[in-house]
Amino acid sequence: MNAFDVKPLSGGVGAEVIGLDLDRPIDAATARALNEVWLDAGIVLFRGLGTSNERHVRLSRCFGELEVHPVPAIRLEGHPEIIRLANKGRTEQMTYRFEGREVVGRIPWHTDLIYTPATNRGAILRMVEKPAAGGETGWVDTALAYEALPDSTKARIEGVEGRFGFVVDLREMRFGRPADLELVDRGNVDYPTFPEVAQPLVWTHPISGRKSLALSTVHLIDVVGMGREEGDALLTELVDHTLDGRFTYVHDWEEGDMILWDNWRTMHMAFGSPPGQQRVVHRTTMAGEHRTGRLL
Ligand SMILES: [Fe+2]
Repeated sequence: MNAFDVKPLSGGVGAEVIGLDLDRPIDAATARALNEVWLDAGIVLFRGLGTSNERHVRLSRCFGELEVHPVPAIRLEGHPEIIRLANKGRTEQMTYRFEGREVVGRIPWHTDLIYTPATNRGAILRMVEKPAAGGETGWVDTALAYEALPDSTKARIEGVEGRFGFVVDLREMRFGRPADLELVDRGNVDYPTFPEVAQPLVWTHPISGRKSLALSTVHLIDVVGMGREEGDALLTELVDHTLDGRFTYVHDWEEGDMILWDNWRTMHMAFGSPPGQQRVVHRTTMAGEHRTGRLL
């Protein structure tokens, strides 16, 4: 077995795996132990261990089958399981201004694929080229957020569904949008469209059985079957509670850091970086289907 230590991340959200040797094959017992850490912590940091694509893929394979991304253009040559995401100038991504600063690559709190009926298990992000400023990524543990709700709220939201849609322009976000958000440049990006889906606001994790909140703020529209005013008040209360900082970990990257997350009990956020600075991350995606939603 490859030995490693585990310690909680600062603030008690997520964990860090220390001392894992990724230069040799990972045996089944080690992979099982790493999966237990993942299931328990939801967010797992491997500081400085991601120094090559081979190490990234070797670690990722411990957590199940990897998905090959449907868009060939972002696949890394020679490594179809890795996608390469780069921010540089205004042409590749949308540029926004808020709080007096321009930013590219900003994606507020979300769950991947929540705008489809089934979401993937998780992913590992690796910092390949760190920008001179910005570029942080945050995670929020929505299982901890659920568990901290008063019992009366838990009872109130059981069985309640939210309506979610695929949002490209962040000015269309209904929850968690900065008030002074302006679009500076649309870039030349082309996005597909997706039909809206209903998702329960409370998900039960198919492996751990733990409940979590599904609120993906980029995509959240309203409550199915509830008047706008009442529904918006409920969602605002839940979003404010979830994002009040108690359940959040923000990572200020160093090159070579890798972070694994459980997409079935977390939201994540790309803080973005100033235009003109290169930022490159590589990402693997763990397959697995959690079919919670329905098409509307
Ligand atoms: Fe994402």
